[in-house]
Parts: sequence; structure tokens; C-alpha cells
Amino acid sequence: MANYDVIIIGSGPGGYVCAIRCAQLGLKVACVEGRETLGGTCLNVGCIPSKALLHASHMLHEAEHNFAAMGLKGKSPSVDWKQMLAYKEKTIGQNTSGIEFLFKKNKIDWLKGWGSIPEAGKVKVEDDVHGAKNIIIASGSEPASLPGVEVDEKVVVTSTGALELGKVPKKMVVIGAGVIGLELGSVYARLGSEVTVVEFLDVVTPGMDAEIQKTFQRTLKKQGLIFVMGAAVQKTDASKTKAKVTYKLRKDDSEHVIDADVVLVATGRKPYTEGLGLDAVGVKMTERGQIAVNGKWETNVPGIYAIGDVIEGPMLAHKAEDEGMAAAEQVAGKHGHVNYGVIPGVIYTHPEVANVGATEEELKEQGRNYKVGKFSFMGNGRAKANFAGDGFVKILADKDTDRILGAHIIGPAAGDLIHEICVAMEFGASAEDLAMTCHAHPTYSEAVREAALACGDGPIHM
Ligand code: FAD
Ligand code: NAI
Repeated sequence: MANYDVIIIGSGPGGYVCAIRCAQLGLKVACVEGRETLGGTCLNVGCIPSKALLHASHMLHEAEHNFAAMGLKGKSPSVDWKQMLAYKEKTIGQNTSGIEFLFKKNKIDWLKGWGSIPEAGKVKVEDDVHGAKNIIIASGSEPASLPGVEVDEKVVVTSTGALELGKVPKKMVVIGAGVIGLELGSVYARLGSEVTVVEFLDVVTPGMDAEIQKTFQRTLKKQGLIFVMGAAVQKTDASKTKAKVTYKLRKDDSEHVIDADVVLVATGRKPYTEGLGLDAVGVKMTERGQIAVNGKWETNVPGIYAIGDVIEGPMLAHKAEDEGMAAAEQVAGKHGHVNYGVIPGVIYTHPEVANVGATEEELKEQGRNYKVGKFSFMGNGRAKANFAGDGFVKILADKDTDRILGAHIIGPAAGDLIHEICVAMEFGASAEDLAMTCHAHPTYSEAVREAALACGDGPIHM
């Protein structure tokens, strides 16, 4: 048995970042991880592998659709699926071993195995019990299940199975037009699958700005994705190689069946707390099965904290990371802080979709006096040169004070562009502050400046 200042359970973006920050603050720290590699869902079966496949399939799309127009002639590349998976695995390995290196560098002990909390101040890993002044739970999340749909990770898969299919399916049905469904759906559509997305609601990516939702769905339709909206999936019937998906249209209750070689179930994720022994130790949960915490990420049991997907808030790697750093600082007696009003969201399709702050619908609901500044990438020279003129930047600002309240981007590099608006919002900037800032030419970021100008006297290039 060893004694630590902090033991963190889970080594995803929440846990590993928290461990590193604890070590930097001079605490003796260990991190428990049951997987064979560090990095959690994000590095092993989430953010990183999905982005590798998104990148590879985007390159194929560019070669097929845009190379010839730029004078790059020759046979289009064909898909070597095994090699693409190998590239994805190599990318995962580079990232997970990177965390192992950072653990060694920061003298963080990796306690290998599944951990539980027999009582406050103790963590049991396999047969060993370790003492800890503070315990931070960062056990993450798992895919939510759907009644009538049995996942076998071969034909009926979650995102985990979808990242390692035996071959590119001819027909794929995606249940859920959320982030996972649209990112992975667009990967397989670009690789040649016929992809049908069945969504319960009438809009894609619920909660996003409505204008972006419409443009996003239209863009994906143009790329070949088929959408069945307002449809409640009843069940799947799968054999070893095929499946049937039965759904009812909500508007008329009519029942329909679609065939698929692979069904991807992407209807959300839920907190993962199995085996931690939280009941026995008396940790309070929310009605939605999340660990309840206060503003310092502490549970109702003194000395036990929780961060990341296992608590409330968006299930995003960077949200987990920020909480990891802030919780470490709390534990070290400092003042860790997360600004939940400025957490960007990014969907890594092509074009990318990114958002921060309020949507226009939220501002209407709040009765806010706001203005909208919009600029299309069609008016951006760099975007036109790069076949990336689809999409726009939309900035929402307070009509009286000009303070930026939210931003929504669909277009090239949206996931990078959003950050200058995040920084501006952190500093309480006005749209004019952005508009008065010199932006290099020719860059996509000029579209952000033009949208900010559109909140005032008007953009130049539109
Ligand atoms: P996790 O990353 O889930 O890590 C928890 C870790 O704890 C796991 O490794 C688990 O094995 C371990 N663990 C659990 N219980 C125990 C125990 N008792 N003992 C020992 N170890 C335990 N987010 C983004 O921001 N950007 C993206 O591009 C993105 N893409 C995604 C793509 C996919 C396909 C998926 C599924 C998710 C994606 N996400 C993305 C979400 C992101 O992965 C999560 O928000 C993030 O991983 C949450 O981090 P976490 O540290 O809370 O938990
Ligand atoms: P999600 O919550 O984004 O989307 C789920 C979708 O399924 C919703 O549109 C919902 O209306 C629909 N749905 C629910 N029940 C249904 C039913 N019975 N029939 C048809 N449709 C149904 O969840 P998703 O895509 O599974 O992602 C889980 C989490 O992972 C998200 O919270 C997201 O934050 C995170 N993630 C983030 C990524 C990113 O940041 N780029 C990438 C992938 C995942």
C-alpha cells in the first residue's frame, strides 16, 4: 500500500490532465486505469481515431473531387481499408504512448487495473488498497443503449465498433443525427457506403443554432447522406452479416424497415460508474446518473471529487481537461475555475461546424436585444481558392453594448477559427474589438473579422 496526496480514477482527458497538473503543483499522484493504454475514450476509441478516419476519407474526397480542377491529374486513389485502419491504430499508439511518457516525466504512478473506493481516503486496485488524501473520479462515459437494439459490435455497432469494421459496408444505417452519427456517417459516405441517417427529431445536431443545422444538413445531403427525420427506431433484427432497422415516422405512425450491412447506434452516451462502489461510500448522483458535484468539483463525500463525462455538462474532451486542471488546483488549495459559458463545440466533418456561447434561438427565448453579423466564405479569397466557399460565420452580439454573446461557424477550419471568438468572449470583447483587429490576408480568419464588421457598419467583401 502506498499513500498519495491524490489518486485519480480514469486516464481520459479529464484524468490524465488532472494528474499532470497535480504533479506540477507538487502533489504525490497516482492514476488508475483499467484499459491497456492510457488516454481514455478520447485517445483510444473516440476523438483521435475518428479524426484519423475523417482526415483520410477527406483526402480521398479531395483527390476524387478537386485534384483534377487544380491540374493534378492521374488515377484517383483507391481505398486500402486495412492500411487505413493501420494508420488509425498508429495514430492512437503515438498519442497513448505520449501520455505514458508524460506520466513518467511528471513522476505519476500508473496503477494498472480497475479501481474502486472501499471508503473515503482509500482506492482499491485489483488486490491492493492505496491511501489517498483526495480521490478524483474521472471514469468517463459509455454509449447509451436503445430498447430493441442489441449491439454486437460487428453488424450493430457503437462508435467503438464503427472504428474497426472488417470492411467498408455497402449500406450503413446510422441511428441518431448527433455528433458521432454525422462524423462517422460522413467518413463511410466518403469511402463509398450508402449512408442513411435515421433521426428522432426533425433537426440534426439538436441544440445547435437553427441556421447552422439547416445548412449542415443540406451540405451533408449534397455529399450523399440520406436523412430520415422524425423517425423513432423500434428495433433492429440482425444476422451475422446483415440487419434490418424498423422505425416509425412520428408524423403518421407509419412503420418502415431499412436493410443495412452495418447499423451504427449513436444516440448519446451515459456516465460510466460501474464497479466504483459509489453507493456504498454514499456519493450522491443526479437524476441522470451523473455524479453530483459542487462548484469545486467536490461530491457530497469530503475528499472525493469528480470531473469530465461522469458529471453534468457537455461530454467533450476539452471540458474534461479544463475541469481536470481546475480540480487539481482546488485540491492543491488554489482557485481552479472553468468558464462554462465559453466552451467551444466542434464537429469535424467537412466543412467543419463550430460554435461557442448562445444560439440565436436561446437569445430569442431570453428576450435579449441582439444583432447578427454574418459573412459567407464565398466572399473569402482563400476559401474560394481552396474549394471551400460553402458555409458562413455568424456572430451574435448585444445590440446595446456590442458585447459578443455567441458565434456559429460552418466552413473550412471552423474548429480553429472559433477560438479567436472564444478568446474575445473570455475578455468580454465587443464585435467592434474583433472587427478592429488586423487579420492576415489571405486567411479563413478574415471571414470572422468580416462577420464582426457585419455587426457594425457592414462587411467589406460582400
Ligand atoms: P474518458 O475519456 O471516457 O476516460 C475514462 C477512463 O476511465 C477510461 O479509460 C476508462 O477505462 C477508465 N475507467 C473507468 N472506470 C474505471 C475504474 N473503475 N478503474 C480504472 N479505470 C477506469 N470530444 C471532443 O471534445 N472532441 C472530439 O472530437 C470527440 N470525438 C469523439 C468521438 C467519439 C467516437 C466518441 C465516443 C467521443 C468523442 N468525444 C470527443 C468525447 C470525448 O471522448 C469525451 O468527452 C472524453 O473522452 C471524456 O473524458 P473523460 O476523461 O471524462 O473520460
Ligand atoms: P448526441 O447527443 O450528439 O446525438 C444523439 C442523437 O440521437 C440526437 O440527435 C438524438 O435526437 C438522436 N436520438 C436519440 N434517440 C433516438 C432514437 N431512438 N432514434 C433516432 N434518433 C435518436 O450523441 P452522440 O452522437 O452519440 O455523441 C455522444 C457524445 O459524444 C456527445 O455528447 C458529444 O459531445 C460527444 N462527441 C463529441 C464529438 C466532437 O466534439 N466532435 C465527436 C463525437 C462525440
